[in-house]
Amino acid sequence: MSENSSKIWFDGELVPWEDANIHVLTHTLHYGLGVFEGIRAYHCENGKTAIFKLDKHIKRLFDSCHIAEIKVPFDHETLKNATINLLKVNELKEAYIRPIIFIGHGTMGVNPQENPIRVAIAAWPWGAYLGDDGLSKGIRVKISSYTRMDVNSFMTKAKICGNYVNSVFAKKEAISLGFDEAIMLDTDGYIAEGSGENVFIVRNGVVKTPPLTSILEGITRNFIFDIAENENIKVVEQRFTRDEFYTADEVFLTGTAAEITPIREADGRKIGNGTPGEITKRLQERFFNTIKGKDKKFESCLTYI
Ligand SMILES: Cc1ncc(COP(=O)(O)O)c(C=O)c1O
Repeated sequence: MSENSSKIWFDGELVPWEDANIHVLTHTLHYGLGVFEGIRAYHCENGKTAIFKLDKHIKRLFDSCHIAEIKVPFDHETLKNATINLLKVNELKEAYIRPIIFIGHGTMGVNPQENPIRVAIAAWPWGAYLGDDGLSKGIRVKISSYTRMDVNSFMTKAKICGNYVNSVFAKKEAISLGFDEAIMLDTDGYIAEGSGENVFIVRNGVVKTPPLTSILEGITRNFIFDIAENENIKVVEQRFTRDEFYTADEVFLTGTAAEITPIREADGRKIGNGTPGEITKRLQERFFNTIKGKDKKFESCLTYI
């Protein structure tokens, strides 16, 4: 259960948390066509709160709607300002922010026709997604028995609600078998991504991540390219197999929820020496300095509220 905050922005108004409810015949609830985002706000060293990559997240929300052919009844600036204001109203110093755009109730049946498009933004305090120990010591993952959905069945560049059934299956399986997270292969058998994270490996000083073909274009993933360039670390986008993953010197996951989480074990095989590697730690340090407002080079990633 997430911790409540007092208000949720819903269709242009602030409503009490417990009143942000929907009808059981909401179209998205039945058929999964809706889109969402996950954004984080951090309490910075200077005492202020800042949202990480806010414009990029709002842009991806609109891109997801474009892919899903959902016409949003608000513009970019309105949703951006609503997000900023929501944190102020709820007096949140640090928060996970969840905008969702979904198809309301009206006509039933797969074709949503003229059903209303509804927009909500919620925010609440949410700590390390894969645990504080996961961030510092690394997590244990399983290569999932579930394949990442094919690009011609679902569209992986959009954060479409229904896409996450694939993630939920993989995550539940990994947890039930005693692992922390699932890593899915694409339909050709190459490493794709985690249930809610992008994947990176490090071999002989080079960082490698799968190309965008069958994965979400992670905003944290893109930021890794920026940090790595600044640290003179080479990053390549290239397919790789599970055996290359097993024999990597270092492996880590990136995501808004997971931030930069090292992987210390995969399918019972130790990764490197079983502790977070040097390159992972360097990237993590730059990331956490950035979100705390301590890294002047990447100041523009933050929107202070
Ligand atoms: C399937 C999937 N891949 C990757 C990511 C990482 O994306 P981001 O860094 O933009 O949060 C997420 C999280 O949004 C995700 O759900």
